[in-house]
Amino acid sequence: MIKLKIDISKIYDFVPAGKVESYQDDLHHHLKSLYEKTGRGNDYLGWVTLPSDMDPDIVSKIEETVARIKDIAEIFVVIGIGGSYLGARAVIEALNHSFTPLLTDRKFPLMLYAGHHISEEYMADLLDILNDKEYAMAVISKSGTTTEPALAFRVLKEHMESKYGVAEASKRIIAITDREKGALKQLADNEGYTSFVVPDDIGGRYSVLTPVGLLPIAMAGYDIRELLQGAKTMQDHSASHPDLLENPAALYAAARNVLYQEGRVIEILVNYQPHLFYLTEWWKQLYGESEGKEGKGIFPAGVSFTTDLHSMGQYIQDGMRHLFETVISVEKSRRTINIPLVDNDADRLNYLSGKTMQYVNHMAELGTLQAHIEGDVPNTRISIPVINENSLGELIYFFELACGLSGYLLGVNPFDQPGVEAYKKNMFRLLGKP
Ligand code: PA5
Repeated sequence: MIKLKIDISKIYDFVPAGKVESYQDDLHHHLKSLYEKTGRGNDYLGWVTLPSDMDPDIVSKIEETVARIKDIAEIFVVIGIGGSYLGARAVIEALNHSFTPLLTDRKFPLMLYAGHHISEEYMADLLDILNDKEYAMAVISKSGTTTEPALAFRVLKEHMESKYGVAEASKRIIAITDREKGALKQLADNEGYTSFVVPDDIGGRYSVLTPVGLLPIAMAGYDIRELLQGAKTMQDHSASHPDLLENPAALYAAARNVLYQEGRVIEILVNYQPHLFYLTEWWKQLYGESEGKEGKGIFPAGVSFTTDLHSMGQYIQDGMRHLFETVISVEKSRRTINIPLVDNDADRLNYLSGKTMQYVNHMAELGTLQAHIEGDVPNTRISIPVINENSLGELIYFFELACGLSGYLLGVNPFDQPGVEAYKKNMFRLLGKP
């Protein structure tokens, strides 16, 4: 049974009566076309059945690779961008201790990232760190030709080969790329790197449950079998509950499209846990790249509360009314801190003594929800019981399925991204690429 819950009751005052429910037939049709792989972009629907189709040999090979690498590397560099970066980081940061780099008893390598921008200073700083540490790395690129990760890999490969020698470096490099084509595939074969395949029928932003996300997540010490199990629970539930009110992904897709039609063109994903910052980044790519095309689409934005209530809160409460919020609510904290009672109640906080910080955070969430509703901001709430591998698996599959459905409702192909080529053309011209 799924543990994720969705509550769209706080949008009903902002949309015409019966409008959400009127999507039932369309959504039923779109769900069918996703599961039967007959809709637009159907070359890229491998993710729909990925949790149930996952080859156990791939999971075992990932775990064997982690067992080999974790004993020889204190740092693991993940090279990738966009869909070849954000999913892994979203899950790892959600599960990590908030101060992982400072922990002295880590049993798995510390994850660092490269190839997700072209900052020279960042790369030079990274090399400073890698000079003195044992490290290994994964280069992740479906196409194998994306400039940012290719550039980072070129620099890091040279560094690694001069530090360890070519033969040892080739044991410390893992390539995750296309099955057949592409420069990276050829290089991996020539150099004898351990390699994993990005399935042909899964696009970058839907690839977190392939080795693209699974290898780094496992390398950071997390249970990828549980992650896949959570995703499979959501897959099974979604496939067997076509009714809108019983299918959270369909309901979310309907809610956001109805709001869009009412002029709510910005969706703000809200978290109350800084661990979820990169989940928001992953979600922004998923929805932005899937829906922002043909002059259409909701602009996906993100905030972390209560931090951003002290910066963006003013706009959300009182600014232009073209937005709505989707809150990811985590019911239970993994750690507990009781607020102490102090003799001198100078800060006037004794009224909270004995309560947990999570309780205060939860009240902040409820208070903000009410304030924003009163400030004319419709609200959808997605709740999970706790942050763990299983609930993240459910959440990932939920967002992916809802995104496919939502794109179909909007009338676009949610599985292509023609717009991302424009900057590359100009950059290559300016760089004089032959
Ligand atoms: O979702 C997408 O398709 C993109 O964000 C890609 O993942 C990103 O551009 C990286 O591409 P590649 O994996 O080919 O290097």
